[in-house]
Amino acid sequence: MTDSERLLRRHGYSVAALRAAARSALPRPIFDFADGGAEDERTLRRNEAAFSAFGLQPRPLRGCADRDLSIKLFGNSLRLPVLIAPTGLAGLFWPDGERAAARAAHAAGTIYCASHASVVTLEDIAGTGAAPLWMQVFIYRDRGFTRHFAQRAAAAGYQALVLTVDNQLTGNRERDVRNGFTIPPRFGPAFIATMALKLPWLMRMRLQLSRITFGNYVEHLNATDLKTIAAHMPSLLDPSMSWRDVDELRRQWNGPLLLKGILHPADAREAVERGIDGLIVSNHGGRQLDGAVASFDALAGVVAEVSGRIPVLLDGGIRRGSDVLKAIALGATACLIGRPQLWGLAVAGEAGVVHVLDIFRRELDRAMGLCGVTRIPDIGPDLLFAAPHSIRAGIGGI
Ligand SMILES: Cc1cc2nc3c(=O)[nH]c(=O)nc-3n(C[C@H](O)[C@H](O)[C@H](O)COP(=O)(O)O)c2cc1C
Repeated sequence: MTDSERLLRRHGYSVAALRAAARSALPRPIFDFADGGAEDERTLRRNEAAFSAFGLQPRPLRGCADRDLSIKLFGNSLRLPVLIAPTGLAGLFWPDGERAAARAAHAAGTIYCASHASVVTLEDIAGTGAAPLWMQVFIYRDRGFTRHFAQRAAAAGYQALVLTVDNQLTGNRERDVRNGFTIPPRFGPAFIATMALKLPWLMRMRLQLSRITFGNYVEHLNATDLKTIAAHMPSLLDPSMSWRDVDELRRQWNGPLLLKGILHPADAREAVERGIDGLIVSNHGGRQLDGAVASFDALAGVVAEVSGRIPVLLDGGIRRGSDVLKAIALGATACLIGRPQLWGLAVAGEAGVVHVLDIFRRELDRAMGLCGVTRIPDIGPDLLFAAPHSIRAGIGGI
């Protein structure tokens, strides 16, 4: 048994335990890069806490010996309603991390959404044969670059495009400031000292570190090193992005187009009117605007506005199968996980991500069984109980 298999066996009983294992395995600046949020991390904390605003009201007497966790999404049949959210620099957590996670998603029967900031290229990820794949993109000052991304994704067989709209300015992540974590990582004496303390990670990554880059940008910027690419990054993104750009991308991309980072019901309505195929209610895992509403708190408003016309997905703070159940009860079609996937990756690579997805599968299956539901479409708001203290505190949503 390898060390990582041993770690997985010991700490793989919950997502929280895997987080703790990832914390021990990774150099602190890298763990914090993923774990942290913007400024005071209020949105980050609230993302997780929001799920406690509701209790579950089980109806156990309905017979639920066999549960079916599958869902249909854009013509795909997924084995569970949990997808992998786009996370940049996954290749810092495990060698070839993006490809490992994509293979894991495929093995679990779900979707991997590649990040614009993957270490490897989107073509490399598609080369794993994992399917279906989604590709996350931005609106760049050079609109031709956005178009180019979309064309590459289409040519590589990506099924859907996910336009992230909450990242046109980079969030103020103070853990990174405190740790001196920069992109690209500056391997100064302090960083080297923290790396040396995490020998298994260092041994795995030693041949990779000099190759860490934003693979998708290499060709466009005619540069291979992360330093040059990262220096360009803030000026590539365009804060003047508007609905006109969404329309433009809609015209260019024939497959499903989703907007990620929608929190306001009026934006949800506008997106439907403009022919968007799906929404991801998200605040970027609390990494962008601290003080932004928790995604779970924003879900009901968006669902009401969309009223079933397009799928509404949710990410942010999902750590238990029962969180997924609550999101679906409030009208989400499926959920995405960001950090939990990176924690699995940090502990055991592809097997770690397979394991994380399996934790969600087992927990959701058990929660459905205990609530008395056998199929995902049968999970409804009647299962939710808004605890009186949450209503008094003004958190509750419905
Ligand atoms: C390390 C890290 C990198 C991320 N990179 C991206 C990215 O490149 N593009 C994007 O749209 N979202 C990115 N996100 C946000 C995730 O897609 C997702 O919205 C968030 O992680 C969900 O919250 P959770 O981590 O609590 O599951 C990133 C998140 C993390 C933790």
